[in-house]
Amino acid sequence: MSEGSASGLYEVILDTVTANVAILNAEGEIVAVNDAWAQFAAFNAPPLENHGLGLNYIAFCDSLGGSETSEAAAGLRGLLAGEVGPFRHEYQMDLASGPLWARMIATRISSNGRTLVIVAQEDITVQRHAQAALGRATAALLHAEDDERRRIARELHDGTAQYLTGAKLMLGAMKVEGRAEKVRVEIEALLVNALEEIRSLSYVMHPPALEETGLGPAIRQMAEGFARRTGLSLQIDIADDFPKMARRTEVALYRVAQEALANVHRHSGSPRAAIGLRLAGEMVLLSIRDYGVGLPDGASATSGVGLAGMRLRLEFVNGHISLTSAFPGVLVEAWAPFQPKD
Ligand SMILES: Nc1ncnc2c1ncn2[C@@H]1O[C@H](COP(=O)(O)OP(=O)(O)OP(=O)(O)O)[C@@H](O)[C@H]1O
Ligand SMILES: [Mg+2]
Repeated sequence: MSEGSASGLYEVILDTVTANVAILNAEGEIVAVNDAWAQFAAFNAPPLENHGLGLNYIAFCDSLGGSETSEAAAGLRGLLAGEVGPFRHEYQMDLASGPLWARMIATRISSNGRTLVIVAQEDITVQRHAQAALGRATAALLHAEDDERRRIARELHDGTAQYLTGAKLMLGAMKVEGRAEKVRVEIEALLVNALEEIRSLSYVMHPPALEETGLGPAIRQMAEGFARRTGLSLQIDIADDFPKMARRTEVALYRVAQEALANVHRHSGSPRAAIGLRLAGEMVLLSIRDYGVGLPDGASATSGVGLAGMRLRLEFVNGHISLTSAFPGVLVEAWAPFQPKD
């Protein structure tokens, strides 16, 4: 540990920590750093003189000029001004060796009547890359799943359902009597059931309206059916001549609409909701608003796979989604670049 006055035990403890740790005084100057920090400071471009000891770290962060580093400076200033910590911040740094992601955790302490701030920084570049790679892989998987569903839906609809229809027609034309007629009627009823199931399975897997009429009418049809089944009073705001778009974008937004409506039904407790689809400049905006309980506080709002799926689907088409409490209720806004049908 490099510094003037910290007692030996603390020095040893701080030097065993793998995070880069610096201690700032009430002015924001670095008064002590641990071994990890000292090594890291040498890689800075330009390297921090004397491991940064004596440097005003807050002013240094400001001088880097990026919005993320000035946010870090503001957080540290806030701590020194009495804000309750710890202050947590993740940001990107450009080092000579390439970009690096860091997580900063800063805590204010009082020691012998002095105010100090302990700044610990961890390199989270590997986690960030892994997270991004996982996101890309999951999005590709969702996309492949959509394609596969579409293929199976088509197969069921154009293949299996046609065979069953043919069998039903032939059976209907058969002239039989007595017990055989009873059996014929029973087989016919079984075929009708099978056809119904195949049709609805194929519909759920890939709604034909999406292919035939495009997203606008497909969402309208789905939303009307949803409202009927659930008793939700649903206002649908979609122009009749909403243009057809690239299939990827349509599938992504359709699935978002399905999930958002399911969430309204499962979580909001709202008897009414609104769904809208419109063009906004170069973008298309799908919005779903309910008037229920709103989003829960904290971590529980990220518990399901529904929201994560919506995010990934939109990322895959270069879009994004926001979910906000709208007092009352929740507003979901899904944005995607408008791309005409390919
Ligand atoms: N319209 C809403 N009103 C209130 N809370 C909501 C609403 N939409 C989502 N939430 C909250 O966000 C959480 C996460 O939603 P998400 O869709 O990811 O998961 P889920 O619906 O619980 O499960 P699933 O994985 O089956 O979708 C929900 O559990 C719920 O607490
Ligand atoms: Mg859900």
